[in-house]
Amino acid sequence: MLEGKKILLVITGGIAAYKSLELIRLLQVNKASVVPVMTKSSQQFVTPLSVSAIAGSKVYTELFDLTAEAEMGHIELSRSADIILVAPASADFLSKMAQGTCDDLASTLLLATDKPVLVAPSMNVRMWHHPATQRNLGAIRDDGIVTIGPNQGDMACGEFGFGRMSEPAEVITFLNSYFKEGPLSGKRIIVTSGTTHEMMDPIRYIANKSSGAQGTAIASALADLGANVVFITGPSAVATPPNVDLVNIETGREMYKAVLDQLPADVAVFVAAVGDWYFDEVAEQKIKKDNERLPVLKFKENPDILRYVSNLQENRPQLVIGFAAETSDVHKNAETKFKKKGCDWIIANDVSDSTGVMGGDENKITIFTKKKKEDWPLMSKKSVARKLAAKICDALEL
Ligand code: C5P
Repeated sequence: MLEGKKILLVITGGIAAYKSLELIRLLQVNKASVVPVMTKSSQQFVTPLSVSAIAGSKVYTELFDLTAEAEMGHIELSRSADIILVAPASADFLSKMAQGTCDDLASTLLLATDKPVLVAPSMNVRMWHHPATQRNLGAIRDDGIVTIGPNQGDMACGEFGFGRMSEPAEVITFLNSYFKEGPLSGKRIIVTSGTTHEMMDPIRYIANKSSGAQGTAIASALADLGANVVFITGPSAVATPPNVDLVNIETGREMYKAVLDQLPADVAVFVAAVGDWYFDEVAEQKIKKDNERLPVLKFKENPDILRYVSNLQENRPQLVIGFAAETSDVHKNAETKFKKKGCDWIIANDVSDSTGVMGGDENKITIFTKKKKEDWPLMSKKSVARKLAAKICDALEL
């Protein structure tokens, strides 16, 4: 799928720049060609000489470079590839992209290009979670830019969390799926997954036992059929598939906002087990035990994302799918929910402890559509996902 593709690889400044060498090598193994562009700060981490030697190509670094302009001008360079991949994309570079700043070759190319742009962010965990970075990400996503990763893990700076650039092999998997033609190519699909954490004080929260396994499998199966999947997930016990555009959230209200930010979409599959309530007031400090009195905690209801999106007048996805995870009267409760939410399908599953569905590998579902009710036999969550992805293709008449 990557064979014959031309990639303009923009390397920006960050310790993960060392991964760009391996990335170039893997792109070549996959028979893609790479033209590298380096920012000034990236050259503090890897040298243009090593990048050029591995890519087997000239490295472009300067905006005002007579020789380079004579060979290939910056506008031509911005249009010469099938895609522009920014890896690693530093916090500073994402900020420039969000602003439309063009004060060096790399940022100017991004403003001048008419080609799809993908970014693999890389930064310290606090920089990643900073509202300014998240605002910038929202802005570039609105501009149609696709993000790959980042991963969670140990950081070069000694901290732990989100911000590690996706591994080169994961970027390759993502690109293979990006270029793969499938029945869902060109379709944008939002999948919510996992649980939410509704904070009570800085260290306590309420959550539920959802592992995120079914949502993850569905996101992956849809991406395998060529869809551009935006995967909005709360805390989850399973690894994120590399071929989806990941948005991490913690609370139900963050999930609501993230979903609205990602519209319009062709399909939305709301698998997440969103907390029904959040604490009206989140204590700034850990709530202390008081032997005289128990704490009084007030709840407020979380926005119902499925119901809200199902009832949108504008930007409603063509197909909106909800889940009804029940522990009693599964079908009856699912039918009531189906009517209340206004979605196109609702997928009922029994999550009572005895079924082992929550946290397990298998699931047994019933799909309610406007016309009929379909019982599927017990199967692996991955099989449910593949079968559901095929059913979504049928519904879209693909
Ligand atoms: O109302 P209940 O939580 O049982 O509905 C489950 C369905 O609604 C799931 O598809 C879930 O993802 C979605 N939901 C939502 N926003 C909420 C609560 C549930 O999208 N606040």
